[in-house]
Amino acid sequence: MREDSFATYLRSLVVGADTPVSIANGSRRAAINFDNAATTPPLKSVMREIVRFAPWYASIHRGAGVKSIMSSEMFEQSRDIIKKFVHADADKDVVICTKNTTESINILAYTLAGCGSEEVILSTDMEHLANDLPWQGKFKVDYAAIDGCGRLSLESLRQQLTKYKGKVRLVAVTGASNVTGYINPVHTIAQMAHEYGAEVFVDGAQLVPHCAIDMKPHDSAQHIDYLAFSGHKMYAPFGGGVLIGRKGAFEHSEPVYKGGGIAKLVTRRFIDWDSPPYKEEAGTPNAMAAVAMVAAIRKLSGIGLNVIHDYEHNLICYAIAGMRSIPGLELYSCAAKNEKRVSLISFTLQGIHHKMLADILSVEGGISVRNGLFCAHPYVIKLLKLSDDDIDYYYNKPNARFPGLVRISLGLYNNYREIDMLLELLHRIACNRDYYKRKYSESAKARLKSIQQEWLLASRRKLP
Ligand SMILES: Cc1ncc(COP(=O)(O)O)c(C=O)c1O
Repeated sequence: MREDSFATYLRSLVVGADTPVSIANGSRRAAINFDNAATTPPLKSVMREIVRFAPWYASIHRGAGVKSIMSSEMFEQSRDIIKKFVHADADKDVVICTKNTTESINILAYTLAGCGSEEVILSTDMEHLANDLPWQGKFKVDYAAIDGCGRLSLESLRQQLTKYKGKVRLVAVTGASNVTGYINPVHTIAQMAHEYGAEVFVDGAQLVPHCAIDMKPHDSAQHIDYLAFSGHKMYAPFGGGVLIGRKGAFEHSEPVYKGGGIAKLVTRRFIDWDSPPYKEEAGTPNAMAAVAMVAAIRKLSGIGLNVIHDYEHNLICYAIAGMRSIPGLELYSCAAKNEKRVSLISFTLQGIHHKMLADILSVEGGISVRNGLFCAHPYVIKLLKLSDDDIDYYYNKPNARFPGLVRISLGLYNNYREIDMLLELLHRIACNRDYYKRKYSESAKARLKSIQQEWLLASRRKLP
């Protein structure tokens, strides 16, 4: 498939899209990164903004100097830009700056837990552990089930809402799955949650970099009460994430982290906590993360998230169509073109362990993928249909290799040529399984290690 000028333009936007790496046959080729769901490379515009801002960089909310005042102003303005990006309410919502989605969800869980632990959190069987473990131990947690294809069952969600009627504090659901790529109908879910007097939290880690999201007005039945996402998954590294939600929810709780910058006055007799979002941002805020996130938002919005989504959707559908013709390759989500999904898919190749397949793709093709359970253990276990006995067997038996999946996840800069290279290599592996299994077996590990060692040495030589 030939690339058009738009794909070339998108590719030109990120840093390192064509970084050369050595591969098994001794040649060098541009590394192919199909692990964008884990983290994306930075946008060039983000790096430019960081450098442009650097001369003005100073402490946030902690100084009377001009640079500190300017940095603090920039930091506050970034909250408004983030709110507009997701259509949060300018007055009723707050943007709490965190280090990533995981921290955002933990803050929300601790904050809401203060309201009474008799309440129920309804999560789902398709969550990343970041939207599962923080709720446990603070609330009763139950889960809406998935259907036979791994999609969230809205019927099950309604049954759970009915079962716990009046007790559900929050429905905590992912906007898009990091395993199957399914996009959940978050507004329909919000409407259902509200009907039962619950609020809704959307884990936007995999959704926000790929699709436009609208939190909708507070008086809408489809309003999303809380949303979290990470900068490093949307081309803006530097350690920033956000939790956005109703200001009132954070007003009366104890701050989760405690330290400087969160209280108006602390005496030995009383503490007067600051108002949200400040009371949830103990310690010096991360100014560079805010600069990076705003720059990424500007670039993604400038292109148009719908445009990005369409481009990535066509790309993943092309990959899926190609994968379906590879002998022994099994896909772990619905392959239909009209399925609402972000640009990722997980699969297995019969007879080749997921770890070995990921190693082969990396060493033979310079193709980075993720393998394993993707921090969504219960979901992958369900998709693989592992029984409790299976789990115990693999978990307890020495040298038994736990089953898992291989995932490709695309970013806006990936292209058809890269997909063709993946498909060609997968085909080659599928048709020469025994050869590759021998080559990458335990006894051949030394060779793999030496290639990886070479990569490490090469990168050390390049790093300052
Ligand atoms: C769906 C989902 N939620 C939450 C997270 C956690 O994101 P972070 O590691 O940025 O906190 C991830 C990370 O992969 C994810 O895929």
